Amino acid sequence: MNFQTIHLLVLSALACDAYKILLVFPFPSKSHAILGEGYVRNLLKAGHELTYITPYPKDPAPNLRVIQITQHAFEEKMNSMFTIEKLIDNTLALKEMFSILKSFIDTANDTVSNTEVQQLMLDPQTHFDVVIAEWMLTEIFSGFSKIFNCPLIWSSSMEPQSPILQLIDEMVHPAYSSNMLGLFEPPYNFFQRAINTLIEIGLKVAKWFSALIEEQIYKEAFAAAFKAKGLVQPSLEELRYSAALVLGNSHVSSGAPLKLPQNYKAIGGYHIDEQSKPLPKEFKNILDNSKQGVIYFSLGSVVPSKSMPAAIKTGLFEMFRNLKHTVIWKFEDEFQNVPDNVHVVKWAPQQSILAHPNCILFITHGGLLSTTETLHYGVPIIGMPIFGDQAMNVKKAVHKGIGLEVKFDSDTPKNLKAAINEVLSNQKYRDRVKELSLIYHDRPVSPGAELVHWVEHVVKTKGALHLRSPALHVPLYQKLLLDLIFVSLLLFLGFVFFVKFMVTRCLKKKTDIRKKTL
Ligand SMILES: *[C@@H]1O[C@H](CO)[C@@H](O)[C@H](O)[C@H]1NC(C)=O
Repeated sequence: MNFQTIHLLVLSALACDAYKILLVFPFPSKSHAILGEGYVRNLLKAGHELTYITPYPKDPAPNLRVIQITQHAFEEKMNSMFTIEKLIDNTLALKEMFSILKSFIDTANDTVSNTEVQQLMLDPQTHFDVVIAEWMLTEIFSGFSKIFNCPLIWSSSMEPQSPILQLIDEMVHPAYSSNMLGLFEPPYNFFQRAINTLIEIGLKVAKWFSALIEEQIYKEAFAAAFKAKGLVQPSLEELRYSAALVLGNSHVSSGAPLKLPQNYKAIGGYHIDEQSKPLPKEFKNILDNSKQGVIYFSLGSVVPSKSMPAAIKTGLFEMFRNLKHTVIWKFEDEFQNVPDNVHVVKWAPQQSILAHPNCILFITHGGLLSTTETLHYGVPIIGMPIFGDQAMNVKKAVHKGIGLEVKFDSDTPKNLKAAINEVLSNQKYRDRVKELSLIYHDRPVSPGAELVHWVEHVVKTKGALHLRSPALHVPLYQKLLLDLIFVSLLLFLGFVFFVKFMVTRCLKKKTDIRKKTL
């Protein structure tokens, strides 16, 4: 054995180190759980040892410990909050937005106060190499990394936005970056820049308020663990900016080419298993036998189909009846007199349907998982956004030319019909989605491999301090160069006064001399 092979063997032995990883994905929504499962699948495959906090039941496996936490009826709360009726009546008020924020914080509280989680923190034998926690508008989980004395990685389910980027760098520039509400696409006019800036300020103000509650929850829930470890409990404000990395469920193929810090890694698509699962028989039959192609219609998992007003429901079924295409509609409600070409299903293997060559159109609420999958499989969309970041995702998709948007109102069936005709008859949408699909797939490594790489990189480099942005601790007035501008102005004014003073003095002297000589 020569030196080189020994070197290689040592290297591969090091690379195969199994790390102990704490995964905190407690938000009770199907799409968030799918993202958590993406971490579990990829990290288990890489040989690591996981402790997974989740609201859903899951069987433990070799190298996988599951801590299931119970929630205070979060899911029902969300379901009753986001209904299509409210969307149409425009009653999704600001108050409800705050109550959503509060639910995220409550979920975080349920997680850190959970008995099993408390035991985990108190157990002196428990050790982790890294904590990966889902960031949902609260930083309470940054306490874990201090308790276990290991680096922290945030997983972000959305496109990069100010609230998360501020934790590792700075807010996005309101003059050319869109935000969560996604009202406009750049370039912006004066009015749009004003609105964007106001939204950024509004988000800051909301955070000041929520930070007070977060601090209180963090103080109470982590106190015992800090005491048991003989550590002084720092304030949450001190821990808030301590994350080594953000792993974002985003990619430039679906989002905007934003300026991003070195420790933001866009790994959108990691939730998709490279080998798509074979279609169950009943779905395979529908897709294989469709002559004109299949339209797949799903509004995601949060908004209940029940909340769709009866008139729209009937209108949609009647509109679908007149199409020559086959429709698979994920619809959790009963309906009489379903047309022959429509298949109503309560559950659908979304990825495997999109992967089928006969799937020609995806009508979606525009959740980021769905818009990512549409690029992965190259299927054009019609977006019907309901809440949160969906409006922004759909707007981006329309802007990129891979589909159209249809709003929810009494004209929805008519407008959706026109949109279906346009997207299916005009080749440009299919061409564009294939182009973007190429951009999506054309990466040095798959998103799952990239996920594993960066997690291991953070552990190996003990927190990846070399990636931290210097902007993190620079106050706003310095970023805007206000102090420089102020001092320059002073110097300039001083200079002007000095010159003026000298000139008047000289003139005065001259007149004095003249007076004297007279
Ligand atoms: C957090 O949860 C604990 C335990 O369930 C509860 O006693 C406490 O009031 C909660 N804190 C807040 C701010 O909701």
